[in-house]
Amino acid sequence: MAKTASLKIDDKPFDLPIMTGSEGEQAIDVRRLRAESGYICFDQGYGNTGSCESNITYLDGDNGILRHRGYPIEQLAQHSDFVETAYLVIYGELPTEKQRNHFGTLLRKNAAIETQMQRIFEGFPDDAPPMAMLSSIVASLAAHYPELATNNFERDLQNFDLAAAMAISKIRTIGAMLYRYQNGMPYVHPKDIPFCENFLHMMFSEPYKDYVAEPEIAKALNLLLLLHADHEQNCSTSTVRMVGSSAANLFTSLSAGISALSGPLHGGANTAVMNMLQMIHDEGDDGTRFIEAAKSGSKSSRLMGFGHAVYRNFDPRAKIIGDACEKVLAKLGIDDPLLEIARNLEQAALKDDYFLSRKLYPNVDFYSGIIMRALGIPVNMFTVVFAIGRAPGWIANWREVASQPKGRIYRPRQIYSGPVKRDYTPMGDRG
Ligand code: ACO
Repeated sequence: MAKTASLKIDDKPFDLPIMTGSEGEQAIDVRRLRAESGYICFDQGYGNTGSCESNITYLDGDNGILRHRGYPIEQLAQHSDFVETAYLVIYGELPTEKQRNHFGTLLRKNAAIETQMQRIFEGFPDDAPPMAMLSSIVASLAAHYPELATNNFERDLQNFDLAAAMAISKIRTIGAMLYRYQNGMPYVHPKDIPFCENFLHMMFSEPYKDYVAEPEIAKALNLLLLLHADHEQNCSTSTVRMVGSSAANLFTSLSAGISALSGPLHGGANTAVMNMLQMIHDEGDDGTRFIEAAKSGSKSSRLMGFGHAVYRNFDPRAKIIGDACEKVLAKLGIDDPLLEIARNLEQAALKDDYFLSRKLYPNVDFYSGIIMRALGIPVNMFTVVFAIGRAPGWIANWREVASQPKGRIYRPRQIYSGPVKRDYTPMGDRG
């Protein structure tokens, strides 16, 4: 017999179905509760609400587990690369050689930003926040490619393969171009080379001197992007789903996701970690004084890169990236004092009852900034790189929303706490 939960309101019982996910996680299905009882569920910020069924990513924050389409993140990090993982996240299976080649060709053929679109860059002040530029220019893709952005699920899904490849490839190109625009450097156009190498080429080539990425550098960027490819129903992904649920096209929905990611509580944390490490370094601290201050409970002195809204155990991505950080810096012969400070902070926090009792462990952002710095990526571009990495997850989630035969527009309810009904007063009577 199907399991149910029972809820009693004023002695009236309501039986609520229990749903079970493929990894055994359970939910109480309250979809009919309001119709049957007049009550809604209150869950500010949706912290305990399943907003969808999804078969893309499984995350168990209590046990530090992250899997895409069933594959553990540790195995993907070891054996796969960003483009292959992007294909997996979007299409649900690891690609065959033929599928991988086809996907790679689509990415390469759709990498360039046409001249008309390039003019959009010039409309921005050269000190515009990079994420503001990125979200605006990505939104403009819907205007430049209207045949891929019809705001009709059926038609947009028919062109999905092209739109998805275009989005992944162009977000990366736009990221590199806005960096060059802001630094007064001429644009470098994409070449027929692999995805990560191409990004670094467009970022760092000099006049008459093409930047050719060392294999270690391209590998490190691949790992970094791969580790960000998807992360279940985080703020930006839920935003993409919410916007997409209105039948908004892929590009418009991605632009909204980029805007959500730009906030310091979400994609901006990697920047905050670097600023913190730099400040500790500049003050001549080895981390010891900062750790003590971080225990004060004040939000302004938190140990950035520690703690996570869903991981109550280690963040599996942080383990991978922490190890990679050490190796990448060693291979590149970089001796970054900030890495030592980060290690000191981590070791001290992992022995300290304040952090242990609150289950605060390093998250992915704790080390990602140090890797980006080693690759030569400036701090104000960190969140842009995060967006390039997260694009596959957003795209996969948009596709899931667009493909649901019985999907409904995302439309939560609220508990109204404003004034009760009152009558309009003419201006002269308003005190
Ligand atoms: N440093 C010091 N104390 C902390 C930290 C921290 N980084 N994080 C949480 N705490 C403390 C809180 O003060 C609170 O203490 P209390 O119980 O004495 O009041 C306790 O730990 C629980 O904290 P919450 O605020 O409930 O944790 P929550 O789950 O709401 O927040 C968050 C998670 C926002 C990530 C928080 O840990 C934080 O601010 N971390 C630093 C910022 C950061 O690294 N963000 C990146 C997240 S990863 C990402 O978005 C890609």
